[in-house]
Amino acid sequence: MAASQTFSLLAFTFSLLAFASTVSSHNITQILADSPDYSSFNSYLSQTKLADEINSRTTITVLVLNNGAMSALAGKHPLSVIKSALSLLVLLDYYDPQKLHKISKGTTLSTTLYQTTGNAPGNLGFVNITDLKGGKVGFGSAASGSKLDSSYTKSVKQIPYNISILEIDAPIIAPGVLTAPAPSASLSNITGLLEKAGCKTFANLLVSSGVLKTYESAVEKGLTVFAPSDEAFKAEGVPDLTKLTQAEVVSLLEYHALAEYKPKGSLKTNKNNISTLATNGAGKFDLTTSTSGDEVILHTGVAPSRLADTVLDATPVVIFTVDNVLLPAELFGKSKSPSPAPAPEPVTAPTPSPADAPSPTAASPPAPPTDESPESAPSDSPTGSANSKSANAAVGVSTPSLFTALVTIAAIAVSVSLCS
Ligand SMILES: *[C@@H]1O[C@H](CO)[C@@H](O)[C@H](O)[C@H]1NC(C)=O
Ligand SMILES: *[C@@H]1O[C@H](CO)[C@@H](O)[C@H](O)[C@H]1NC(C)=O
Ligand SMILES: *[C@@H]1O[C@H](CO)[C@@H](O)[C@H](O)[C@H]1NC(C)=O
Ligand SMILES: *[C@@H]1O[C@H](CO)[C@@H](O)[C@H](O)[C@H]1NC(C)=O
Ligand SMILES: *[C@@H]1O[C@H](CO)[C@@H](O)[C@H](O)[C@H]1NC(C)=O
Repeated sequence: MAASQTFSLLAFTFSLLAFASTVSSHNITQILADSPDYSSFNSYLSQTKLADEINSRTTITVLVLNNGAMSALAGKHPLSVIKSALSLLVLLDYYDPQKLHKISKGTTLSTTLYQTTGNAPGNLGFVNITDLKGGKVGFGSAASGSKLDSSYTKSVKQIPYNISILEIDAPIIAPGVLTAPAPSASLSNITGLLEKAGCKTFANLLVSSGVLKTYESAVEKGLTVFAPSDEAFKAEGVPDLTKLTQAEVVSLLEYHALAEYKPKGSLKTNKNNISTLATNGAGKFDLTTSTSGDEVILHTGVAPSRLADTVLDATPVVIFTVDNVLLPAELFGKSKSPSPAPAPEPVTAPTPSPADAPSPTAASPPAPPTDESPESAPSDSPTGSANSKSANAAVGVSTPSLFTALVTIAAIAVSVSLCS
């Protein structure tokens, strides 16, 4: 028992440390803007938001296609298909021209961004790189029976060892990528998708309130949905929805979607306030984001929520599950509430420390500062949300508080292992 508690404390500590190293400094859009030859490729990186994903990562290689090579894809397929094809050109490893020619045994497989999408069974998300005779380097899908149909042509730019950009002469096509069904098929039944993802309560609310129609009308131009799981609606601190007016329920549900396509990479690199479908005036009903390692945390001003799974990412629509119901400050904030907002559980949670604490980790500090000033990035109080998520979310506040938190955790870890 003691060992596992100590372990979870240590894991938590490491997740705090991971927070420190998430921001990268390259901007693929800007780098490629210098070469008109890549204008088509660059434009598709922006339209599919792959640019954000690339900018949020380091130790990667982008295999670019000039406008001639891009014409095999451009305009010939839905955006979601082009996104898959281009994801195969983003290698999750750093290959500069020297390394390409020094591959051990002359051949290797590299993971690509496509592998991270969950749409790539087997080795479909891997690329075979082979040093062919005469200085030629060939690229192809790692799926068996694939040919090395693409060749390295030249180096475009390197920022060691963050990003390397190399030109190849043809797209790398994995079996099935170009013939994937159009996303409209799966989108015709959003509620079905949500139910399968464990978000039946949310799906039912969308239907009964009529907000589903608002979502559906955004599908063509871009839609991002944050669907709380069924557990999220049962969690402590979630207000009784039957006590809300119809207009408030509508705002709450509209608050769970954006009228734009923002896949995970875009949320990771986001620095701005994000407007939701409920936003109707400056700064109202918007969201902010922070990251913790590879995780994205959404902030409402009331409580944070972790982005959990991607249910569907079919440009321009993306549907995520989230761990907590997103409570907008406009409805549930402590002071600025226009209506009698349900108080966050005065009996079970007398202090702002996490109430539903399963272990000493969450019951004790680090309680994030109850700083309600709007400027300090994640100002959420962790009321009613699950332990480590809220604590993680509070990490952005300042270095001293990070330090205090680490020291506190170290102290708890020691006392836990000594006492048991
Ligand atoms: C590489 O990325 C790191 C962040 O991961 C950044 O601090 C560093 O400045 C980058 N290096 C260059 C040369 O841009
Ligand atoms: C990257 O560069 C493009 C073009 O210069 C610019 O529009 C965009 O805002 C930049 N992105 C970031 C995150 O700085
Ligand atoms: C890459 O493809 C070539 C040609 O099909 C094959 O001979 C080689 O074994 C493959 N490399 C790896 C690492 O699978
Ligand atoms: C949507 O999906 C759900 C669950 O898969 C199913 O029960 C329902 O009949 C579907 N609705 C339509 C209109 O296809
Ligand atoms: C961003 O949101 C915060 C609250 O979450 C608010 O205080 C701030 O004014 C907003 N900034 C802008 C530019 O709207």
